[in-house]
Amino acid sequence: MKLSILVTGGAGYIGSHMVKLLVREGHQVTVLDNLSTGHRDATAGAKLVEGDLRREADVARAFGAGRIEVVMHFAASCYVGESVQNPAKYYANNVIGTINLLEAMRRADVSRLVFSSTCSTYGDPVALPMSESHPQLPVNPYGMTKLTAERAMSDYGRAYGFDTAALRYFNAAGCDPEGELGERHDPETHLIPLVIKEALRVRAGGNPEDTQLNVFGDDFDTPDGSCIRDYVHIADLCAAHLLAMERLLGGKVSGFNAFNLGTGKGYSVKEVIETCRHVTGQDIRYKIATRRAGDPARLVASAALARTELGWSPHFNELSDIVDTAWRWFSRQPSPTS
Ligand SMILES: NC(=O)c1ccc[n+]([C@@H]2O[C@H](COP(=O)([O-])OP(=O)(O)OC[C@H]3O[C@@H](n4cnc5c(N)ncnc54)[C@H](O)[C@@H]3O)[C@@H](O)[C@H]2O)c1
Repeated sequence: MKLSILVTGGAGYIGSHMVKLLVREGHQVTVLDNLSTGHRDATAGAKLVEGDLRREADVARAFGAGRIEVVMHFAASCYVGESVQNPAKYYANNVIGTINLLEAMRRADVSRLVFSSTCSTYGDPVALPMSESHPQLPVNPYGMTKLTAERAMSDYGRAYGFDTAALRYFNAAGCDPEGELGERHDPETHLIPLVIKEALRVRAGGNPEDTQLNVFGDDFDTPDGSCIRDYVHIADLCAAHLLAMERLLGGKVSGFNAFNLGTGKGYSVKEVIETCRHVTGQDIRYKIATRRAGDPARLVASAALARTELGWSPHFNELSDIVDTAWRWFSRQPSPTS
């Protein structure tokens, strides 16, 4: 069935991969994006409405473009550190922006929503792997604003009949396996692109000893002392959105539902670097830096609910395969090092 889908933040890293998949599936896609961190050239095949979620008139314009049946909401500010320094930006973008979207949906009589949520809504783990019933006690404004957005969706579900699948991603990683889209964040804070940028610097003739790569803390309570995270490939994330959308449309997911998206396997920062060494063939070195505030030792998902309720199972289960897609994309960029 061909659907008309609004994708907020469709010019960003995860949103652009989703747009590509939806267009390929034959859907009619409208992207609402202010291009603050996104890229115009990443929305091929979609209608781009350049606008800001914080401005009601812009959101109305996106809905005015035609009948929308489902919304996928990726647009957000998503730097943990920045959210501590500038919470106002995060409450405005992630909370007010989301409320504007929900209100525009009400006006347009659109009630189905797939939301990009995050494991940051859980805060420090009290049990591992983390399931959806883990307490949600965020430890930074980023996580709190995403949790607030979830709560609004849940309340809108009860009061106005909204059906929401909130997908709580762990660490999104990798690039389009066909090499057309990648991760273009500036500044980059995610580990795999940072390690790959270091590999590219070395490949370009840079001295490995002058490494620009930092490992934040090597005294955590983990086997090698570095933090452990759950990396889920972008193509698997996008596949989960499609499944969630189908379940929403089929009435199998109604009201507010949250699903973790992760592989359930954790890799330490040092293991990620070692995998990148292997995949890139470069002599990647690193410096040990002090821990970042609020970095838990381990974050690993239980994605059992997404498996049973959405029928989702990730295909990229090996970290080396995830890194390989990122390496292939970054290697093809004109000026990859900074
Ligand atoms: N990358 C991850 O590992 C990760 C993990 C968990 C959750 N998430 C969530 O996934 C979503 C996408 O993350 P990403 O890594 O692709 O980020 P991104 O910064 O690459 O993409 C965000 C997109 O939203 C747009 N945008 C931001 N504010 C906007 C506004 N007010 N109006 C219109 N457009 C706006 C940006 O221009 C960009 O295109 C976010 O909601 C994030 O919280 C990401």
